[in-house]
Amino acid sequence: MSAPEPNVGTARALRIAMIGAGGFAARHLDVLAGEPGVDVVGHVARTRASADAHAARYGGRAYDDVPALLAGEGVDAAWISVPPGAHGAVEHALIEAGVPFLVEKPLSADAETAEGIASAVAASGLVTAVGYHWRALDGVAVVRERLAAGPPVRLVTAAWHSSTPAPAWWRLEAESGGQMVEQATHLIDLALHLLGDAEVLHATEARAPRTAHPDADVAEASSAALRFAHGALGVVTATCVLAASDTVELRLHREGELIVITQDAITIDTGAERRVLRHQADPVAVEDRAFLAAVRAGDPTLAICSYADALRTHRVAQRVRTLGYASTI
Ligand SMILES: NC(=O)c1ccc[n+]([C@@H]2O[C@H](COP(=O)([O-])OP(=O)(O)OC[C@H]3O[C@@H](n4cnc5c(N)ncnc54)[C@H](OP(=O)(O)O)[C@@H]3O)[C@@H](O)[C@H]2O)c1
Repeated sequence: MSAPEPNVGTARALRIAMIGAGGFAARHLDVLAGEPGVDVVGHVARTRASADAHAARYGGRAYDDVPALLAGEGVDAAWISVPPGAHGAVEHALIEAGVPFLVEKPLSADAETAEGIASAVAASGLVTAVGYHWRALDGVAVVRERLAAGPPVRLVTAAWHSSTPAPAWWRLEAESGGQMVEQATHLIDLALHLLGDAEVLHATEARAPRTAHPDADVAEASSAALRFAHGALGVVTATCVLAASDTVELRLHREGELIVITQDAITIDTGAERRVLRHQADPVAVEDRAFLAAVRAGDPTLAICSYADALRTHRVAQRVRTLGYASTI
């Protein structure tokens, strides 16, 4: 199949739909509902009540599933914000209909679903984007330039040490993919974005019954050792046992310099000087606007993270998951 023609001119509003009506769908809709040249026309959720609630709050109509949405509305672009285990049919229906989409990370709970969607996306030439919004943080472009100019990074450490998120699906491996696939994937993605590909050398994880969450089967602690293509070593650690978020950061170590990236700021420490660059822009709004521009232009390269980019990250996270599961202690 050849790439569909952009079906959208700049003269009329883009008709957009949201698949999923939970917390992160609202995060995007808070941006999109106020965006000029955008009409929110439809919402799909697992239960009708959730879709109705978002239709009442953000405008548009509620639908029971994607085929009903596509039959009921002309849709220029869709956002997909469903649990990781719910991917597959949604994307294939949109690809079949030639509707560009931005899908939240991770691409799927497992490895295979994302591989199948990626093949269909590549064959369609559709504009796609994935919500790896750490790439859109202020200063990430500056870090990329700085890394290109200076000595190589020798050590990467990434930590996602936090509490257990509220949604019930998050605690179940089959539905979320576990913490490395669902959360630490942001840090893996940013590391790959900045440093290029990486091989997973080793991964391990710990699982034990938790009194606070007796239904949980995801690992409560996981770690992985990576080697990046240019030689840097990487260590990723994750835990969800804390009462609140503690450390969520990526640290890049190279000769005479430490760069620390968090959701609030980028800190560059040379010993002689310590610069703290606080993020100003909302990275979710930045990625949403970039995707809107890509759809309007019919140009997939304008998206901040394409499906193919995200697949590279997903493969690394899934490899971590597979090795970790095999070595559960
Ligand atoms: N980028 C980030 O930093 C970030 C942060 C948080 C979450 N996320 C991602 O965003 C996604 C959603 O997370 P969330 O926190 O919003 O979860 P959530 O609050 O549990 O919402 C999930 C929504 O998906 C709907 N849903 C489930 N299966 C569906 C299906 N087959 N078709 C259509 N809708 C379906 C649910 O419907 P009901 O309401 O009817 O149950 C619910 O409205 C996840 O992939 C998560 O990893 C990303």
